[in-house]
Amino acid sequence: MHTIMVLNAKGGCGKTTIATAIACYFAESGFNTALMDFDPQGSSARWLDTRGKDLPQIKSIDAVRPKSGLTRSYQLYSGAETEVMIIDTPAGVHGGHLMDLYRRADTIIIPVMPSIIDLHASESFFAEMTRLFKRSNHGKRIGVIANRVRLKTRSLESIERLVAEAGFPLVGTLRDTQNYAVAMEAGLGICELRTGGSIKDRRHWQPIVDWLFQEIPRKEPELPLVDSGTDRWQDSKSTPAKYAVS
Ligand SMILES: Nc1ncnc2c1ncn2[C@@H]1O[C@H](COP(=O)(O)OP(=O)(O)O)[C@@H](O)[C@H]1O
Ligand SMILES: [Mg+2]
Repeated sequence: MHTIMVLNAKGGCGKTTIATAIACYFAESGFNTALMDFDPQGSSARWLDTRGKDLPQIKSIDAVRPKSGLTRSYQLYSGAETEVMIIDTPAGVHGGHLMDLYRRADTIIIPVMPSIIDLHASESFFAEMTRLFKRSNHGKRIGVIANRVRLKTRSLESIERLVAEAGFPLVGTLRDTQNYAVAMEAGLGICELRTGGSIKDRRHWQPIVDWLFQEIPRKEPELPLVDSGTDRWQDSKSTPAKYAVS
């Protein structure tokens, strides 16, 4: 099983949005996928509750609310069949809590928003992550996503500086768009949102998906670079929508 964690101590930077989107990419690609929610707010677990039963299923694991009769380790066990586990995390993690989360991940995605406030708030988190990574990494990978970027502005430069100092790669840039809220409300990931206005966003995801898949062999032959044109919502018998776009 490969574990991908979405982590940043700053709240509201897009952890849940990105964790749910990543879970959909893997589920759509035929992987047995689980989504574990470490956030007491339970947003990704709630999103899974709204997800349609006809969509590729994602197993929900609530890491916060204890279930009576289950030991902690059994509650967090996703089953031997799980191939990819995505972990959504709460805001405000540092110290021992951060280290406990860090140990669970094979790949860590850090979303950062380009506002000055967010960047300042993320600086100490990046410093802590750099220390943890230098101390022990065991093949772990850490990548940064610049989220809610207003394209055609210079806001990306400050994120580029921050990641260069930390030594982590910037694996993708996502624009600020309502499409993410629309997908969340419908229990979908951005790869499943079949609206003309979201093609650009799926294109922005391509380098992120490529980076994530570097450590996880694809199940299917290379996916087509353009949407097939079939639409799950118009024809439920159509082949599953592929995620990659031109
Ligand atoms: N790229 C984006 N464009 C527009 N809104 C976004 C984007 N990413 C996240 N959001 C919105 O920002 C808010 C916070 O996102 P969320 O994923 O809940 O952050 P976190 O889990 O880090 O607290 C949500 O309302 C979400 O819809
Ligand atoms: Mg969240």
